[in-house]
Amino acid sequence: MRKRLRKTLSSILSSGDLSNVYNSFDVVGDIAIIKLPCASSVEAQTAAKAIMSVHRNVKTVLLQASPVAGELRLRGLTHVAGENKTRTVHREFGCLFSVDVAECYFSPRLSHERMRIARLVKPDETVVNMFAGVGCFSIIIAKHSKVAKVFSIDLNPAAVRFMQENIRLNRVYDKVTPLLGDSKDIINRQLRHVADRVLMPLPEKALAYLPCAVSALKSSGGWIHYHGFEHAAKTESPTEKVKLKVAATLDSLGVAFEVPFVCIVRSTGPNWYQLAADIHVMFSQVK
Ligand SMILES: C[S@@+](CC[C@H](N)C(=O)[O-])C[C@H]1O[C@@H](n2cnc3c(N)ncnc32)[C@H](O)[C@@H]1O
Repeated sequence: MRKRLRKTLSSILSSGDLSNVYNSFDVVGDIAIIKLPCASSVEAQTAAKAIMSVHRNVKTVLLQASPVAGELRLRGLTHVAGENKTRTVHREFGCLFSVDVAECYFSPRLSHERMRIARLVKPDETVVNMFAGVGCFSIIIAKHSKVAKVFSIDLNPAAVRFMQENIRLNRVYDKVTPLLGDSKDIINRQLRHVADRVLMPLPEKALAYLPCAVSALKSSGGWIHYHGFEHAAKTESPTEKVKLKVAATLDSLGVAFEVPFVCIVRSTGPNWYQLAADIHVMFSQVK
């Protein structure tokens, strides 16, 4: 399918635009989101129609008009072809996620990371998801593990509305508790020392919020799943750089920890990476 799309698009677009569309379009439910910074609107429409003819399930094509930005991690979107809408339902690992892509952050590219974390969750654990969006990590964990409870926090009222709908759609009301607000405030107020595992899927804030994640862990310790962005030249290791950053903050808190796993989740630009680090915090050990 990818080959067919590439062939169709190569007769329409310049090589720069071709690689932009081909390498970076996302399909969320029945909506395709394309990036075409240099193309005219006629070229964008032609590319959109080619995508719809190859991907029969795509009913709408939106053009990303501005990068993901701001506290709520939203992007500007303009309609290019098909039904004019921004709301859809995305299916991932047997879960359904209702989302408005103009009002909430959503990335299908994190699906493997979501399942990787779900597989690590042990029976009866309590999980705190500090940056939950429409609830993808929380619901996949609830569906694919024997978790006791996931506290699922987001600052964006629209994301929490969709999270509530997704909790209903996936019938995980007994396991996932949606919470609207700043995760630091909510943890300080009601979730200190409750978690076996804390999720931090927001690279822009994870380092600043790391002390708060530590305070959410039970007094016996636990795991923090940290996400960060790193720039690494060819001679540098992005995984070592993220370990050093995390270590500096945790050392300053005086907690014992190890980082047994770090991986690149995706590349976000030339020499830029989004990384996931699994941090094991051990309060019982004196540093
Ligand atoms: C990268 S998205 C989360 C992605 C989500 N976990 C998923 O799998 O789709 C980051 C989310 O953090 C939320 N956010 C930003 N600052 C926050 C804060 N201080 N407290 C809670 N949520 C916050 C944003 O509204 C956004 O929905």
